[in-house]
Amino acid sequence: MIDESGSALPAHGVPAEQVLAEVRRLREADRPTHGGRLFAYVYDAAVAGLDELAAAAYAESAHVNGLDPTAFPSLLTMENALVGAAARVLGGGPGTSAPEVVGSVTSGGTESLILAVKAARDARPEITAPRIVVPASAHAAFAKAAHYLRVALDTVPVDPGTLRPSVADVAAAITPETVLVVCSAPSYAHGVVDPVAEIAETAAAAGVRCHVDACFGGWTLPYLRRLGTDLPAFDFAVTGVTSISVDLHKYAYAPKGVSVLLHRDAGLRAPQYFAYADWPGYTMVNPVISSTRSGGPIAAAYATLRHLGDDGYLELARRTREAVRVLADAVRGVDGLRLVAEPESTVVCFTATESGPDLFVLVDELAARGWHTQPQLAYAGMPCSVHLTVTAAVAPTAAEFGADLAEAVAAAEAAGPVALPPDLLALAGALTPEALTADLVAGLAAGLGLGGGGGLPDRMAPVNTLLDAAPPALRERLLVEFVSLLQRPSF
Ligand SMILES: Cc1ncc(COP(=O)(O)O)c(C=O)c1O
Repeated sequence: MIDESGSALPAHGVPAEQVLAEVRRLREADRPTHGGRLFAYVYDAAVAGLDELAAAAYAESAHVNGLDPTAFPSLLTMENALVGAAARVLGGGPGTSAPEVVGSVTSGGTESLILAVKAARDARPEITAPRIVVPASAHAAFAKAAHYLRVALDTVPVDPGTLRPSVADVAAAITPETVLVVCSAPSYAHGVVDPVAEIAETAAAAGVRCHVDACFGGWTLPYLRRLGTDLPAFDFAVTGVTSISVDLHKYAYAPKGVSVLLHRDAGLRAPQYFAYADWPGYTMVNPVISSTRSGGPIAAAYATLRHLGDDGYLELARRTREAVRVLADAVRGVDGLRLVAEPESTVVCFTATESGPDLFVLVDELAARGWHTQPQLAYAGMPCSVHLTVTAAVAPTAAEFGADLAEAVAAAEAAGPVALPPDLLALAGALTPEALTADLVAGLAAGLGLGGGGGLPDRMAPVNTLLDAAPPALRERLLVEFVSLLQRPSF
């Protein structure tokens, strides 16, 4: 029998008030998006009235379609304003060394990166087997772009100490088939800025485009620099940089669904477009991947930027920098933990010392105390770590973190590491993705408390411990299987 209580298509429509109450009840299971205790996924400025303003602007334009800028010039005006603002923040526009900069608004960082790769690939149609060079620390979206676009990925290792690639390794990885060289400003995992000027110079010398992925930090680094933080050149001031991405739904504090992809000039952007007239309907011209696009995120971002203004962002960067300092001090003050890198942007990333606690247990202990951090698995000589994306909303709560961190470490040490059955761990280390059967996955999921009824276990340490023991290809496959167990329709 069909359960009508949560059906998205009930036999009879449900009154508006009731539906809203239901959505609010569902939201209670989510991590808190406000309150300065969530260190991933959400970027909170904690500015009174900002959410309401963005929501109102979103509602004004939610049904407007970005598919056709001639039908909805309001969106074109707002998009051009967002691109102009992003260009100015990142060293482009009138009076700079990149006066001809152009760009597009996309739905997010991943779309911006896929389009940067597409533009680079399609600018070189004579190359039949195109390749891109990325540091191992580059965002996974480049691997996704390479996969979607059938471009080969040449990954350059990063030094386990500095977490940056060596320029010589990048130069050595460039081949005649290379269409794009990538660097991050900063990397997501550790918040480290790559040697952009040197990498861009190397790429330019080889006649190859250079994309700076500033999706994460592109809106904070310039403000941190104005506040006195010593940062290397990473934007259009570096002549070899041909494109830059920056996500407005991250540190520009706009609601989700907005990133900007900038190119140094219109010629570089041209191969990003897709046009099609060879069918009986309207001639399609798309600068980005989506065709129909809601105006909601664009209007919300426009309202957010205009309301906060340049001085507002400077103040938010100042608060964030102070929160980073307090959190990093908290980590330094606890025995058994160490920073993976000295924070130079808005990430605090730490790991355990030899005698320290099990990090995955620590993450659960922090969650039990209301702090939601992001565990990162060990990879290529880099230890597993805990990632904190720090936003302005953390400034008022940061001072409370140290005591809870110390308590959580003590609790994790008392609890000891996760003890998974040795045969399960051995299996994770030895299994190949091809050998995974549906039965094995179901057995693993049940053993970890995943699956049954679609719920998630309270403690994720067993899952993380198992994934940590598995090589990357098996991690990918296991997560695909686990997530697909969760994605089951409710009828
Ligand atoms: C450096 C960097 N690039 C790209 C992305 C992908 O962005 P999105 O999740 O908006 O697709 C992220 C997301 O965290 C990022 O940190």
